[in-house]
Amino acid sequence: TGGSGFIGGHLVRRLLKETNCIIFNIDNLTYASDIESILNIEQSKNRFFLYRIDIKDSHLVSQAVKEIKPDIIFHLAAETHVDRSLDNPLRFIETNIIGTFNILQASLNYYQKLSLLKQKSFRLHHISTDEVFGSLGSTGKFDEETKYDPRSPYSASKASSDHLVRAWFHSYKLPILITNCSNNYGPYQFPEKLIPLAINKALNGESIPLYGKGENVRDWLFVNDHARAIDVIFHHGKLGETYNIGGFNEWKNIDLIKVIIKTVDRLLGREEGASDKLITYVTDRAGHDLRYAIDPTKLKDELGWEPSLQFEEGIKKTVKWYLENQEWLDNVASGVYQEYYQNMYKN
Ligand code: NAD
Ligand code: TYD
Repeated sequence: TGGSGFIGGHLVRRLLKETNCIIFNIDNLTYASDIESILNIEQSKNRFFLYRIDIKDSHLVSQAVKEIKPDIIFHLAAETHVDRSLDNPLRFIETNIIGTFNILQASLNYYQKLSLLKQKSFRLHHISTDEVFGSLGSTGKFDEETKYDPRSPYSASKASSDHLVRAWFHSYKLPILITNCSNNYGPYQFPEKLIPLAINKALNGESIPLYGKGENVRDWLFVNDHARAIDVIFHHGKLGETYNIGGFNEWKNIDLIKVIIKTVDRLLGREEGASDKLITYVTDRAGHDLRYAIDPTKLKDELGWEPSLQFEEGIKKTVKWYLENQEWLDNVASGVYQEYYQNMYKN
């Protein structure tokens, strides 16, 4: 589910290119989605099928799972932007909590009717966030034992979904895996999230809004490294367990923005410091979590995963991609794809 979103899209493209599996994508194509970047790759032909379904609809979800007969399910569909969750929390409750409940029920009904052999290899892999752990002070990191302490409607809805998934493992023996990842960045991210937003604004010479004092800290991971971690954990992770995924890569927002605009200016051949004036301090986000930091030691020690890309390289790659794909950026930002989907992909 959610295969047309930012992380889902990277996972789908990875699986299409590196395996011969067939992918059925349950996604209702919200503002954050992009299906063209998947359909444009050759391997999607006859191996990628869209079920345009809202996961809030239990009947449609259950019918789809029966029809698809999946070997495994990756669950990524969610409402994901904290600011939107502050404005419209109900959407987050419905999609992230009720939607996940519907996926669990449909998966369980399906799983219970599988042969023993198929039951053995079936997994529901739930993709979640480090935001469920709340906010850190200036020291410490989140590990798998950290107490849940979500503080925004988004993180509270994701925390609820994690609890439900874990409960279906303990209560009904549904084989699940949960991963909690830090902030992702990379190509194809909707430009409401900090990094693509800053790149877009710097490109267009518009002011870049920095919340509060710009001192909040996030731990950034290149999206392909997240997709690779999911792949490793799904194959080798222990059922019922949680794995934290992070890049050992903490940045204060203000320092991150400076790196981004420096990279944009350099790649566009602008004078050093040309875009510094764009940084604009604005009113802080309500309940703004101060710091997130992931300790991915369990994943490293047990399954051998490590981030592959240095941040400087990842940011350069990312900025370059947005510069070379300004049409994509303009289209998603202006909602062109949304109109197109309305006509092309009926339920
Ligand atoms: P995204 O917002 O880019 O994509 C979400 C996808 O879910 C979209 O394709 C959207 O159309 C689909 N969707 C939303 N509501 C739906 C509904 N009701 N029914 C069907 N489909 C629906 O999100 P993303 O950044 O790719 O995040 C994917 C998952 O990873 C989420 O569960 C998120 O909580 C988690 N996550 C994200 C990050 C991050 O930094 N982006 C970090 C850690 C975890
Ligand atoms: P965001 O990309 O929304 O991710 P999250 O809130 O899930 O971590 O925001 C990353 C950080 O950047 C967060 O501390 C809020 C801050 N931020 C800004 O300062 N200005 C902005 O316009 C946005 C969208 C975020």
